[in-house]
Amino acid sequence: MNSDKKRLAVLASGSGSNLQAIIENCQNGYIPAEVAVVLSNNTSAYAIERAKNFNIATVVLETKDFDSREAYDKKVVEILKSYEIDLVVLAGYMLLVTSEFLKGFQGRIMNIHPALLPAFAGTDGIGDALTYGAKVAGVTVHFVDEGCDTGPIILQDCLKIKEGETKEELAKRIHTIEHRLYPEAIKLFCEGRLEVEGRTVKLKS
Ligand code: GAR
Repeated sequence: MNSDKKRLAVLASGSGSNLQAIIENCQNGYIPAEVAVVLSNNTSAYAIERAKNFNIATVVLETKDFDSREAYDKKVVEILKSYEIDLVVLAGYMLLVTSEFLKGFQGRIMNIHPALLPAFAGTDGIGDALTYGAKVAGVTVHFVDEGCDTGPIILQDCLKIKEGETKEELAKRIHTIEHRLYPEAIKLFCEGRLEVEGRTVKLKS
């Protein structure tokens, strides 16, 4: 094992196409890291199957088995610590993290959101942008803080919404951007090139 490699935990609730892009970019050497564990809150998340296909350790924890969200996150942190994780990557993880989680991995949790934050935060960024009649959509990768999609922005990219474009068509184009942007942000973190000053994430050369 290359000792310079960082150890990632990817948390996903659904399909896991971002997870797949991250694993592939670790394996081809673009990201100097390995995905040490994939954790989901959803027993039927396809992300878990994808991880197993790469022989990556998986954990499924359901919130209903815990007395509170804090108790759930305490367990998640305990598990991730046991894997000696450097960076927690939320990839379609549809739970808000509590202060228990933030305390455990201060400044080391990233999220991807399918909109140009601070516009269209929440669970349906793509649908909300279309419903609103926005002309531009996008992708944001950000550090996670105590708010919902509010942490310091690492990278963003945008695209013009085509006239009459369906949600499925737009989602497909957004996913293509996500699969490039998330590996890039994770690579920068792993290379120690991200510096946070207040709300601003600076890129060190
Ligand atoms: C991605 O589009 C991601 O941006 C979004 O969920 C999708 C997961 O896709 N996340 C959020 O909306 C978080 N608020 P995937 O499971 O195929 O990676």
